[in-house]
Amino acid sequence: MKALLEALQPGEQDWVLAQAIDPARLPAHIAIIMDGNGRWAGRRLMPRVAGHKAGITPVRISVETCARLGVKVLTLYAFSVENWKRPRHEVETLWRLLRFYLNQELPDLQKNDIRLQAIGRLEALPAPVRRELDAAVEATANNRGLLVNLAINYGGRAEIVDAVNSILEMARLDGSVHSLKLDEELIATNLYTASCPDPDLLIRTSGEMRISNFLLWQIAYSELYVTETLWPDFTRTDLLQAVLEYQKRDRRYGGLSAAAADARAEAALFEVLPSRSR
Ligand code: IPE
Ligand code: IPE
Ligand code: MG
Repeated sequence: MKALLEALQPGEQDWVLAQAIDPARLPAHIAIIMDGNGRWAGRRLMPRVAGHKAGITPVRISVETCARLGVKVLTLYAFSVENWKRPRHEVETLWRLLRFYLNQELPDLQKNDIRLQAIGRLEALPAPVRRELDAAVEATANNRGLLVNLAINYGGRAEIVDAVNSILEMARLDGSVHSLKLDEELIATNLYTASCPDPDLLIRTSGEMRISNFLLWQIAYSELYVTETLWPDFTRTDLLQAVLEYQKRDRRYGGLSAAAADARAEAALFEVLPSRSR
């Protein structure tokens, strides 16, 4: 938080927004569905891949802003298991851009103590992409600042299937398969995101009101924030506004809000007091 304010000019719009953020109630984990690259390009009469290229800048901005804010985990949806349905040229360009991003950003990630992790069915990636991704993950493995999860060839259902299969495999190996009983903790600790808290805030750009197979298990109680902004136009201001909106939410998890619970406790106390002492 302090690091963010130091990077801003006092009085400028983002400084004012950052000042309004309560550092004690930051989302520990922000997840983003980076959507709208194709439409951004289409509106400029450019090919879709130009939108993907323009989508690199907001990735850099989001990583930097989360690191400076003190957010612990940022998960970015970069490529879904369904995105293979797109034209080959578009998919190949996405791989090229991923490699470009990794090469370009690695020094900055290191300098800022940022750890990179990839989540998804990575074995299906083209070999050179996989190699560079693994190398970047390995190179940043000991960093202790922000954790950035890149969701690549990721599907929420595929992740749950993979978790259950790895639980089954382990049980077969240790002979406990016949007495195996699943519970939420066992599934959660076998997801790709096992080491992370669930997202507190899920942002989707481009106005689409759907989840598109992202983090299905983990978003059970995430706060959703959808903005009309297309991903290539997403700025630090948009991210700070999302965090501010998040801080206005009353997270009840099916229970009662803290304020309502206090009021009820007070009312209950009033009820049990003998009428003479009221
Ligand atoms: C998001 O932008 C990037 C990826 C899914 C890889 P889109 O490419 O989905 O852009 P729109 O939704 O067509 O505008
Ligand atoms: C979700 O966006 C996937 C990523 C952002 C990587 P899509 O553009 O693929 O989702 P749909 O097709 O609109 O649901
Ligand atoms: Mg899209």
